[in-house]
Amino acid sequence: MNVPQHIAIILDGNGRWAKQHGMPRNFGHTQGAKNVETICREAWNLGVKYLTVYAFSTENWSRPREEVDALMKLLRNYMKNCVKTAEKNHMRVRIIGDKTGLDEDIQESIARLEESSKDHDGLNFQIAINYGSRDEMLRGMRKMLQDYKEDKFSLNELNETKFQSYLDTADIPDPDLLIRTSGEQRISNYLLWQLAYTELYFTNVPWPDFTKEELVKAIEDYNSRDRRYGGIKEE
Ligand code: IPE
Ligand code: IPE
Ligand code: MG
Repeated sequence: MNVPQHIAIILDGNGRWAKQHGMPRNFGHTQGAKNVETICREAWNLGVKYLTVYAFSTENWSRPREEVDALMKLLRNYMKNCVKTAEKNHMRVRIIGDKTGLDEDIQESIARLEESSKDHDGLNFQIAINYGSRDEMLRGMRKMLQDYKEDKFSLNELNETKFQSYLDTADIPDPDLLIRTSGEQRISNYLLWQLAYTELYFTNVPWPDFTKEELVKAIEDYNSRDRRYGGIKEE
């Protein structure tokens, strides 16, 4: 089986899953966070090198206050515990998104987590928090124009590689496979530049129920695809 080097996941359906079980939405988020850990382990065992999950979008601030607060509390704890998890399984963890929009203590936890795991040689695990692809491109563009103004490069040096170097995912290869759980078939402002040639996989399974078996199914489906990149099929 050809295992994708980089899998991106839109983990969706926590709220609906909880409702189906007669529980509050936040219970779904707690279960969803637990499942992230499981899938990190399984993905690495299957041979995946990069995993990027969407945990909180720039649009998610428009959810009810109590839900945003609960999600931030969950992320806060997650960042703290993740230092130990990353130590144990050698993951390198990076956060993509606008960190400056998060509470200061969360920013500090993120800095600690990124610093303590930066030399780990296991799974490259990216978590998108306060992430929106349009916002990422605009932030990158601002930085790029500033560098241009300071004569750090000339206009004819601006190519795709250069632009990419200003994105949050600068050192990370583009995803080979995008998985979105829970039935929705949209990108929701996730990795718009990076997904240019990514294979898309949608499943009705809600995120808290997304198991190793479901991950294998997605990879098998990916294997049946005919990736062309604009060329013709190699026989
Ligand atoms: C995904 O589950 C987690 C986040 C967006 C934080 P949702 O909270 O979107 O769950 P549904 O889509 O309402 O079921
Ligand atoms: C996308 O899920 C964002 C995350 C998974 C963090 P949403 O559930 O927020 O997306 P929409 O609103 O249904 O497009
Ligand atoms: Mg949703």
